[in-house]
Order: sequence, then structure tokens, then C-alpha cells
Amino acid sequence: MKVLVVGGGGREHAIIRKLKESPKITALYAAPGNAGIGYDATCVPIKATDVEAIADWAAENRMDYVVVTPDNPLAMGLVDLLEEKGIPAFGPNKKAAVIEASKAFSKGLMKKYHIPTARYETFSDVEKAKAYLNTCDTWPMVLKADGLALGKGVLICQDKAEALTAIEEMMVGGKFGASGNTVVIEEFLIGPEVSVLAFTDGETVVPMVSSMDHKRALDGDRGLNTGGMGTVAPNPYYTPEIAQICMETIFEPTVAAMKAEGRPFKGCLYFGLMLAPDGPTVIEYNCRFGDPETQVVLPLLESDLFTVMEAVTQGRLSEVEVSFSDRNAACVVLASGGYPEHYEKGKAITGLANGQLSGGEATVYHAGTSLKEGTLVTSGGRVLGVTAMGTDLKEALDKAYTAAEKIAFEGLHKRSDIGARALAAKP
Ligand code: AMP
Ligand code: GLY
Repeated sequence: MKVLVVGGGGREHAIIRKLKESPKITALYAAPGNAGIGYDATCVPIKATDVEAIADWAAENRMDYVVVTPDNPLAMGLVDLLEEKGIPAFGPNKKAAVIEASKAFSKGLMKKYHIPTARYETFSDVEKAKAYLNTCDTWPMVLKADGLALGKGVLICQDKAEALTAIEEMMVGGKFGASGNTVVIEEFLIGPEVSVLAFTDGETVVPMVSSMDHKRALDGDRGLNTGGMGTVAPNPYYTPEIAQICMETIFEPTVAAMKAEGRPFKGCLYFGLMLAPDGPTVIEYNCRFGDPETQVVLPLLESDLFTVMEAVTQGRLSEVEVSFSDRNAACVVLASGGYPEHYEKGKAITGLANGQLSGGEATVYHAGTSLKEGTLVTSGGRVLGVTAMGTDLKEALDKAYTAAEKIAFEGLHKRSDIGARALAAKP
């Protein structure tokens, strides 16, 4: 089988490294991929959002299967385009990807099907939104741009003045472009956060091992929200009892709701959960694998990823085994200084040979790297993710941090407390 993976981040690198283990795959391609992915797959220089060009390339080069992971090409309907050309693909079609692409849609879905989520109101008229904020007397409140906003469209406002300024910037100032024309205003919830990725073929849902992301840029959960600075799996707060509640009140009802709406979801559905005092609550859905959650979840997958993906596409998920190791995994992200705001690119990266550490004690997933005259250099905000495994979380973290110390580039920034909260957890 010739398989193309669409995207070029650490998540795609983790998917490619796992797919490489499959005996069914003879050739792996990535569009656009990156320098590190180039050691594991053939990179094709087409942007993930050039959906027509990707579908044409896949047809001309006779791909047998395509894995679409980033949110934008999914929301733009790349899976539909591939299906029209007779190429099976992993990922939701455009109608199902709306579960991430519109927060107004996903909140409405949860309300209609009684899936636990924060109480909210939706506004497309700035004056009505302001009038509503003026009636709120519990703070903080959470403002969310309706559409895709690179994970930055969520603002937690501490008081009315802050919220009124923010709503003006979103709905009138165009801070998040058209994504902010409609805004969801919701109650602020407190509790540990858990990410659960789940395979679903539209009927059956199979949750993967749970994980914990670290979204803020700085230690102690300070600084700006990023795409994610590190992850651990499993998430110690996610006990078997909580997993059972989530299955019954969130995972199965969501998959059934999408089917009932005529939008059956096939692919990886990401549940961003908060274990609030009243029970597990949905903070967000994503229509794809998480980044950097994938970098700790897939290394623990013991089943053949390609077999599972094919079963998802063919609606046979209930027939395949999906099993995970009972080990622990930790991923530490090495970012460019200044990320998620301004940062420099083109810094030489030292410590790696052919993109990996020589000792094999950890796997290096490349997110923002490229080759400049034969030298590996930085080319993005998140540059690398260093993942290690252990029999317990502490061992996995120690190994990941020790390995990360061997890699350097000018301005390198990493958090030093990935997993600290998970280690201290007494659920
Ligand atoms: P999202 O992009 O929807 O994942 O939101 C980014 C982050 O904002 C989440 O990981 C949470 O930490 C936080 N957040 C989102 N919604 C809420 C909420 N209703 N209450 C508290 N925190 C929230
Ligand atoms: N790590 C969060 C996400 O992938 O959206």
C-alpha cells in the first residue's frame, strides 16, 4: 500500500513513525512533511491547505490511502475530494468536521443531545453580546470565536471591562478574522483537564489511552496559550470510573448525535474534557488527533495503526482489536524562544544524527525543522517533541528530560515542569 499523510508537524511525524511499523505499507509520503519526517517518508512540497493540489497529486501518484490530520484541510473537505476520486481516506468529511470548525454547532449539538458542557449563549450581534455581558455577575467568563483560530480563539476574561473590550476586538476589530463573527460566551469551569482521542467509524467508538496537555508557554501554567508544550499519558486523573462515565455520558452520545444529525463522524475524535465538580464536561471537540497528545498516545499503541485506520474508513471498527501498553509516555516540546508570539527561524540544531538521538533512549518528533545547505535548522514555533517511555510516569519524564538536554539551538525554550501536576495527582 502507498500511503500519504497530509500535514507537517510533530503529530504527523508520530503518525508516520507508527505507520512505518505496519507490514502492509510499502511506501509512505508526507505533504508537506518537514526535515525530520523526511527521514521516515518521502516529502511532497504541497501545503496541507492546497486541498485540490493534494487530491490531484494523490490520484496521479496512485495513493492507496490518505491520512488527513490537520483541522483546516478537514474543514475544507479534503476527505470528500479524495473520496470523489475513489481514494479512501482517514478523517471526517466536511459535514462531520464542523464539530471542530464551528463552536456554535458543537455547543448546539451538546445542548440538543444533553451532553455535559459549560452553560453558554451564542451571539452574532455585538450589541446583543455586550448587553448579555452586562448582565453577567459571576466572573471569569470565557469568550470563544466560533471558527478555527489556530487554538488561540479562546479568551478567559476576569471582569466585565475586560470582556467588553475583548468582544469588541473579536466581533468588530476582526481579531480572529471571520472566525470571530460569531462568538460563544460560556461559564468558566474549574477542574483537571484530560484529553481523550478516540477512533470512531461513525457507529463504534474506541477511546485511546488518555493524556494531559500543557497549553501555557511557561512553567506553573503561566504565559500565553500555545499549541501545547508537552504531554503525558496516561492522565492519572482519568480513573477507570471516570472513563466509564465519559463513555456513557459523552463519547457514545456524541457519536450517536453526529449520526442522528446526518453527519456520521469517521476518524479520530478528540474530546477535550474538564473533570469539573459536577462531573466530566466537554470543553471542546477537535475533529483530529491532538498535537502533542499524539506524540504520547501512539507510542503506546500496540495494535497496527494502519489496520485500525482502514477499519475506521470501512465501518468495521468493532471487528478490530485496539490495544495499548500499560507503560507511561512523556513528551517535552522544544520551542523557539518567543513562541507563541515572535520568534526567529533558521537556528542550527545540534545533538541529532539523521534527525534522531544516537542512543535511541527517546524518539524525536519533528514539528518545525528544515534543512539549509545540509544543516538541520529551526523553521517554526514548536521545533521538536522528545518522547520517552517508562514503567511509570517518573521514569518516562526523567528519560525525556535527560534526552532533551542533548539537543540545542539558539533561543531554545522548554517548560521544566511537564508532568509535575500529573506526578503530584491524587485523584
Ligand atoms: P480550547 O481552545 O477550547 O481548548 O480552549 C483553550 C483552553 O481554555 C482550554 O484548554 C481550557 O484550559 C480553557 N477553557 C476553555 N473553555 C473553558 C471553560 N469553559 N472554563 C475554563 N477554562 C476553559
Ligand atoms: N493539544 C491540543 C490540540 O491539539 O488541539
